[in-house]
Amino acid sequence: MGLQSLLYISESTIEPCNAQGEVERILATAHTFNASVGVTGALVFTGTHFAQVVEGEETVVSELIASIGRDERHTKLEIVIQDPLTARRFPDWSMAYNGPSQFVSRHVMRLLNDPSRSESSRAASWLAELLEQFSGFNGGAHKR
Ligand SMILES: Cc1cc2nc3c(=O)[nH]c(=O)nc-3n(C[C@H](O)[C@H](O)[C@H](O)COP(=O)(O)O)c2cc1C
Repeated sequence: MGLQSLLYISESTIEPCNAQGEVERILATAHTFNASVGVTGALVFTGTHFAQVVEGEETVVSELIASIGRDERHTKLEIVIQDPLTARRFPDWSMAYNGPSQFVSRHVMRLLNDPSRSESSRAASWLAELLEQFSGFNGGAHKR
């Protein structure tokens, strides 16, 4: 069994006034559970959309994504990248989080609105890289 990396985007269904509390709850769950099963990754919330990288053992990642997919705090979950992984991009993070970012938001939107496949995959690897860079900027609450 190998490591797998998965990037998805989804549309938030959270009322804006509840957003901060809900995202904190998601991160608290993620922090505890992910650390217990060896999952690492990064989450971005744009205010309207989520983008998340999840990395770990293939079976663990599939099960987690299935459970995340059933979560009613978002909808229209779309897997953008699903790749075997030789080395983790976020080895130190049970779930890195940097809050709303206009910059990342633009890339999530570009990905959502782009019908061309080659463009999309370029935007997708951009996004994965951006998330990786953000996880390096802040120390903090969700380090493993
Ligand atoms: C955008 C988003 C990201 C999430 N990320 C994680 C995560 O990384 N790890 C985790 O354990 N739960 C995460 N959750 C929470 C799960 O969807 C779910 O609430 C949790 O796994 C418990 O599921 P269960 O009650 O069906 O067992 C996330 C939820 C949302 C909406």
